[in-house]
Amino acid sequence: MNEIIRLEQLKKTYRSGAIQVEALKGIDLTVNQGEYVAIMGASGSGKSTLMNILGCLDRPTGGRYYLGGHDISCQSDSQLSRIRNRMIGFVFQSFNLIPRTSALKNVELPMIYARIPPRERSRRAAALLEKVGLGDRLEHMPNEVSGGQKQRIAIARALANRPPIILADEPTGNLDSRSSVEIMELFSGLNRKEGNTVIIVTHEPDIAQFTDRIITFRDGAIISDRKVDRDHPPAASKVAAAAAGREGV
Ligand SMILES: Nc1ncnc2c1ncn2[C@@H]1O[C@H](COP(=O)(O)OP(=O)(O)OP(=O)(O)O)[C@@H](O)[C@H]1O
Ligand SMILES: [Mg+2]
Repeated sequence: MNEIIRLEQLKKTYRSGAIQVEALKGIDLTVNQGEYVAIMGASGSGKSTLMNILGCLDRPTGGRYYLGGHDISCQSDSQLSRIRNRMIGFVFQSFNLIPRTSALKNVELPMIYARIPPRERSRRAAALLEKVGLGDRLEHMPNEVSGGQKQRIAIARALANRPPIILADEPTGNLDSRSSVEIMELFSGLNRKEGNTVIIVTHEPDIAQFTDRIITFRDGAIISDRKVDRDHPPAASKVAAAAAGREGV
């Protein structure tokens, strides 16, 4: 298998005034192309810090990050944003859609940065919204659709430049159980059918159960890294509740 992400002794220390927080304390991690990974761990354990670095939204303060074989630890800001635009689709817990801007235009935005011509842009954006089940919501504004639909627009936007890697930081954190399952099924399809490498942060064991590999953080370090055991899913799961037609469990 081809490795797409490799971290070597990756460190991130935040400094605010006299206070230093060691958010990542030397992470070694390899993710291969086409893997489907969940990142778990208590609040403050460094999950978002890691995702922001993986997504080239932030830089490490130590160690190395190889993305697609290239050391990107010390690239310039403009190089970094080019790499991000080409390689990474990022999905946030709070959707981060542009308000008062249609679903179609939201999805077109990353393609504007990538200088895709307007006609191709809107054709591709419409096709992506169709693919996430929102073919009839192209002109809707973010405040005119449900939370689950907002997240689908965000996923369509993340796919706009056909990145090989999808990173999602608690993508179901603001959703009810049924929408959570639908969003996870979308990610599963991207991984299984389209071959995307998908990395998801979640607090919920049954959401992690959709993936193939669960990595757990504690205090800025990896404390476990294991394959998902599909024969023994966790009991009383949100997924089971949604399947049974109950909400909010
Ligand atoms: N911009 C920042 N400046 C200073 N400290 C920060 C900053 N961002 C995060 N931290 C600190 O770094 C540590 C890791 O934070 P991080 O956001 O990565 O945690 P997390 O695992 O994503 O938590 P949660 O599950 O609550 O989202 C925390 O102690 C946090 O207070
Ligand atoms: Mg977080």
